[in-house]
Amino acid sequence: MSQPKSVPENPSVAAGGGFAIVILAAGKGTRLKSRHPKVLHQIGGKPLLAHVVAAASRVVAPASIFAIIGHEADRVRAELAATGIQFVEQLEQRGTGHAIMQARQALAGFAHVLVLSGDVPLIQTETITRVRYFHTQRGSAMTILTAEPPDPTGYGRIFRKYAGAVASDEVDRIVEQKSLRGDEAAQREINSGIYAFAVEPLFAHIDKLTAENSAGEFYLTDMAAVLGQAGNKVLALRAEDSNEVLGVNTRVELAELDAKLRARKARELMAAGTTIFRPDSCDIDSDVEIGTDTVIEPFVQIIGKTKIGADCRIRSYSVITNCQIGNKVLIRPGCILEDSVIGDGAQLGPYSHLRPGSDIGEGAHVGNFVETKKTKLGKGSKANHLTYLGDAVIGEGVNIGAGTITCNYDGVNKYGTTIEDGVFVGSDSTLVAPVKLGKGAYVGAASCITEDVPADALAVGRGRQVNKPGWASEKRAKMLAQKRK
Ligand code: UD1
Ligand code: CA
Repeated sequence: MSQPKSVPENPSVAAGGGFAIVILAAGKGTRLKSRHPKVLHQIGGKPLLAHVVAAASRVVAPASIFAIIGHEADRVRAELAATGIQFVEQLEQRGTGHAIMQARQALAGFAHVLVLSGDVPLIQTETITRVRYFHTQRGSAMTILTAEPPDPTGYGRIFRKYAGAVASDEVDRIVEQKSLRGDEAAQREINSGIYAFAVEPLFAHIDKLTAENSAGEFYLTDMAAVLGQAGNKVLALRAEDSNEVLGVNTRVELAELDAKLRARKARELMAAGTTIFRPDSCDIDSDVEIGTDTVIEPFVQIIGKTKIGADCRIRSYSVITNCQIGNKVLIRPGCILEDSVIGDGAQLGPYSHLRPGSDIGEGAHVGNFVETKKTKLGKGSKANHLTYLGDAVIGEGVNIGAGTITCNYDGVNKYGTTIEDGVFVGSDSTLVAPVKLGKGAYVGAASCITEDVPADALAVGRGRQVNKPGWASEKRAKMLAQKRK
């Protein structure tokens, strides 16, 4: 159990906010049939829980956010550690009500708590704020965010109290899918699993929950009836967009929400000035940034924390992961780029492979079937065809001929290659590291360079050509004579 020691001195409490956020994230996710914790499954390129934490962090300080973790708690904690949120362990997963019971101590200094679900990832900051506002304005003990999605199957249903024939905004009870009886299943209004509670009545009555249901769990949803019967106000607030509160319980839902999230991301980018010709065919992760007038062609994947500048063109079938790309960059089809930096006006591809640690300078060219790794290619330098550059520092205005290979590995250690400004490396050269080519040097084609080359020198590292006049015709004649015998 990890409880913060100084909850009452919590900054947001001191600031008079009084709101904590609890995120339920301890469940195993049985319906995903996975060996990994449900909330670490990804949509939009990051864990379900990370989406919820991001939305929550815009409402209260991370120190006032408590994730309830249980199944594979250490992995969940490790993945989210950088967010600065707090964690509370639920050692046995005995239901959503039981999960909140674990947070009793953590919530001691707070007046209210917003409860979010680690598996309801599309929730927006504005909606959470709306729940908070409604809850405090109305002096509610429990506020339930509800929705009417096209298909309510699988969700708990909301049963409101009636004033005569008119449904009020007071909730009588929530009934889980499994417990629906008779025409109750026709009820379309669902529980989103997102709530606000006044902390005092919540914990004054939470021990009244029982596990007397088909799942044998303590349902947080039963607090609606429990609090209502104790004379507290329990209200429903309908979400404007039911898409925001869809939950992930199965792989099919995971794929559906991933598609919704990516569609939303593409719309945001287009609204901000990026052209995406076939958004359905592109996979753009949530945290990606793209500048104005950049054009993304069909079938492109842009992954992780990639940042792309303005006026670039990313042609089809490229996969770009965690890269920083400048302005006016052209990525031709079929490039695979990972953990690399690409300067303004550079041109890559088709079929370039930048492995981690590649740094392509302003206006540099990397062409087809060129692989780079931990390599800096200076401003205006070119490696246009069929080349491997690993552990190399290459200056400005360098020309790397077709088929050049840096031999950076001897089977045990890696060594560096330095190529200074203005060097010309002839085609099919092998540069055996560690080696340095001085400024302005020239390497003859097909050389095997094993020693440093001084500045402005010519290095030729191959046998001299010998021509033997008539040799071929004599050889042919001899062979034919042999065959006739
Ligand atoms: C829950 C609600 C349901 C609502 C739906 C919305 C209950 C009983 N039902 O159902 O009314 O329509 O969410 O998506 O609350 N968790 C824990 N500890 C536990 C059990 C669950 O932390 O012991 C976490 C899970 O990791 C998950 C969340 O609570 O993030 C919801 O649990 P889940 O089992 O998915 O509830 P649903 O059946 O979806
Ligand atoms: Ca769920």
